[in-house]
Amino acid sequence: MALTAVSWSTASQVSDLSGLVLQNQRPIPELGDKDVLVELRAASLNKRDLVVAKGQGGLVAPPGAIPGSDGAGVVVKVGSQVQNLQPNDRVITHMVPDKFPNDATPPLGDDELPGWNHICAGLGQEMNGTLTTYGVFPESCLVKFGNMMSFEEASTLSCSGITAWNSLMGLEGKQVKKGDWVLVQGSGGVSVAALQFAVAVGAIVVATTSSEEKGLRLKALGASHIVNYRQTPSWGAVAKELTPSGRGFDIIVDVGGNATLSQSVAAVRRNGVMTVIGMIGEADAEPTPMMAVLFVACVVRGILLGSRAMMRSMVKFVEDNKIKLALDDEVFALADLKDAFKRLEEQKHFSKVVIQIPGKIQSEEV
Ligand SMILES: NC(=O)c1ccc[n+]([C@@H]2O[C@H](COP(=O)([O-])OP(=O)(O)OC[C@H]3O[C@@H](n4cnc5c(N)ncnc54)[C@H](OP(=O)(O)O)[C@@H]3O)[C@@H](O)[C@H]2O)c1
Repeated sequence: MALTAVSWSTASQVSDLSGLVLQNQRPIPELGDKDVLVELRAASLNKRDLVVAKGQGGLVAPPGAIPGSDGAGVVVKVGSQVQNLQPNDRVITHMVPDKFPNDATPPLGDDELPGWNHICAGLGQEMNGTLTTYGVFPESCLVKFGNMMSFEEASTLSCSGITAWNSLMGLEGKQVKKGDWVLVQGSGGVSVAALQFAVAVGAIVVATTSSEEKGLRLKALGASHIVNYRQTPSWGAVAKELTPSGRGFDIIVDVGGNATLSQSVAAVRRNGVMTVIGMIGEADAEPTPMMAVLFVACVVRGILLGSRAMMRSMVKFVEDNKIKLALDDEVFALADLKDAFKRLEEQKHFSKVVIQIPGKIQSEEV
């Protein structure tokens, strides 16, 4: 009997998520020469997945596409020209392949940073994603990992992990190092990964949060100071005062967008790096004028994900440093995806919302 998958499918993009439907026996496509069949064991969610599911921001997913970009699982079968993977390898997805199924998106080298066009053409939007028991992915969308990490932990690295890594390690000559001061914002996936990576290097990390309870968890992960951004609207200057002689931060991981950028400018060090990553803060916040950075003389760096080469370095770093990647307390079953999205949207989570996918959910022979 042919193997089928239990998969979420984007029948249509609707704001109440009613366009997401669970298919019980989705046929698995034939493997191309460079494709790999993966039994997914865990997936993690991103704001992007919600935005795509709802059809916001002009992000279009083809009808029937499997949502989700982040996942980890076990290789079941490889195509005839797959070079570096074999059955039983443990793999993490990377959102963007080397070559895209559509002709319009240019190929992406191993060391190249993806552009917005690559991300839109990648997993979880134009290409089928990870919210499925089995998925077929190009070999270039998969990175091997060992036994140190659980599938749940590994699944958090595909998007927010690699973004955090790129923001700390991606700029030649400005990589985070021991003794640097780093500021991370809130307790979401990108910020917690950045906190854990920076702490492992020996940096001093100040974290902002709106929640006392989450502040305690950030401290337990190694944050040296916590600043409540709701109680302290001018948190940029307050955080800067914590740095030696009030000189400011070497690296700021800005995920809030217009809601946080003016405070990041107030906190960054001269010649420090302010990374611009997302817009999780209030959408109607006043934009920060670009000219503001002239007077602090900092580097401003837009970040989109990271390269496949970076992904391999990050996995090695996590394994070498035995980092126990932080997960939200609540873990969801694949069938409960919409509850998981609700938790993400309401920002009740800490770090990553993870979906567990039991192996061998369909028992037919491959
Ligand atoms: N550029 C890229 O390649 C890339 C990759 C991944 C994500 N992103 C974007 O980056 C942003 C963060 O992603 P994520 O996965 O970390 O999101 P997330 O897990 O959904 O982050 C949620 C957390 O953000 C914090 N937050 C909300 N408003 C804030 C504010 N005004 N100031 C500081 N913190 C605030 C809250 O922390 P507390 O509850 O502790 O207050 C909240 O729990 C999103 O906009 C996402 O789309 C971009």
